[in-house]
Amino acid sequence: MQKKTHAAIAGVHGYVPDHKLTNADFEKMLDTTDEWIVTRTGIKERRILKGENQGSSVMGIEAVKGLLEKTNTDPRDIDLLICATITPDLPTPATGNIIAHAVGAVNAFSYDLQAACSGFLYAMVTGSQFIETGKYKKVVVVGVDKMSSLVNYEDRTTCVLFGDGAGAVLLAPNEAGFGIMDSVLKGDGAGEEHLHLKAGGSRRPASHATIDAKEHYLYQNGQAVYKIAVSKMAESIQEIMQRNQLSSEDITFVVPHQANQRILSAVAQRAGLPMEKVMMNIEKFGNTTAATIPLCLWQYAPQLKPGDKLIFTTFGSGYTWGAAYVVWGG
Ligand code: UT7
Repeated sequence: MQKKTHAAIAGVHGYVPDHKLTNADFEKMLDTTDEWIVTRTGIKERRILKGENQGSSVMGIEAVKGLLEKTNTDPRDIDLLICATITPDLPTPATGNIIAHAVGAVNAFSYDLQAACSGFLYAMVTGSQFIETGKYKKVVVVGVDKMSSLVNYEDRTTCVLFGDGAGAVLLAPNEAGFGIMDSVLKGDGAGEEHLHLKAGGSRRPASHATIDAKEHYLYQNGQAVYKIAVSKMAESIQEIMQRNQLSSEDITFVVPHQANQRILSAVAQRAGLPMEKVMMNIEKFGNTTAATIPLCLWQYAPQLKPGDKLIFTTFGSGYTWGAAYVVWGG
């Protein structure tokens, strides 16, 4: 019988800019305290990409270059590069095109995928389909966001949450039982009400009026998003565990989107998983949107062994959410 081809994660790499924005910095800018931010979110500092004309691609290029080097991959062998981002360098061309060109992926086609905090998971599952069908052999998925370009640094509830960063994985075919085994991806456009940007798109193009009204900043109703994020992430984990007959003992790590430490504790509790099994780096990087999951994986990868069972999960603007079951290695 022919063995099923899965998309294995053949390598992971991350990049964060050097500049740190700490809670102490926020204490000087806003009516807030380190104590409030840490107890409500778990975040102590985030990284910010500084400088003129520095877009998300700057970080994506670094992450992908490091990935290719580490996995000994000739950029000419890449078939496809998918870039998950809500902060593209420009409306067009795609940031994926800019990254592919810069790393020398001259034989790849590339595009951007926009699913906010779920962008990386959506893109990873999308990329895996091209591998499973046998169409392509090497797919790069990069999650990158320069959230500092969307954040209103006068809105204390939202601005303390976000940071900038990038993470990338290489997907390659595997027939030995490693890789992305299953996924559940969901969405609900009714979420627009609670998490959106009012202007800058085709509905309300940029104008003096939109700028004066501060409509180019991210708006979030934190409490509404918090509640639904907990229930949908926990539900997705449970669905994927049941479908694949996985118990909490079988799982080595959950690799969750990093939005709030309290969300992660509540999700772990509802899904019946101990916190030691939850990857976490929110303390150092905050919420980097499409980059949180690959950045976490990059940091924890040295601890992982082939055959370790991982559950990825996420929730974000859209709403978008889901989970994936991945066997590490291959
Ligand atoms: O990644 C995409 C998905 N996003 C998420 O999953 C984020 C979900 N939401 C959250 O993580 C949380 O709702 C927040 C961290 C955004 C806010 O935490 P919260 O516990 O929901 O606080 P809150 O908005 O209910 O605010 C509580 C109080 C308010 O004061 P009053 O009205 O009780 O007097 C806020 O004005 O805390 C105040 N507050 C602050 N105080 C000091 C809000 N932000 C701050 C601040 N410093 N930075």
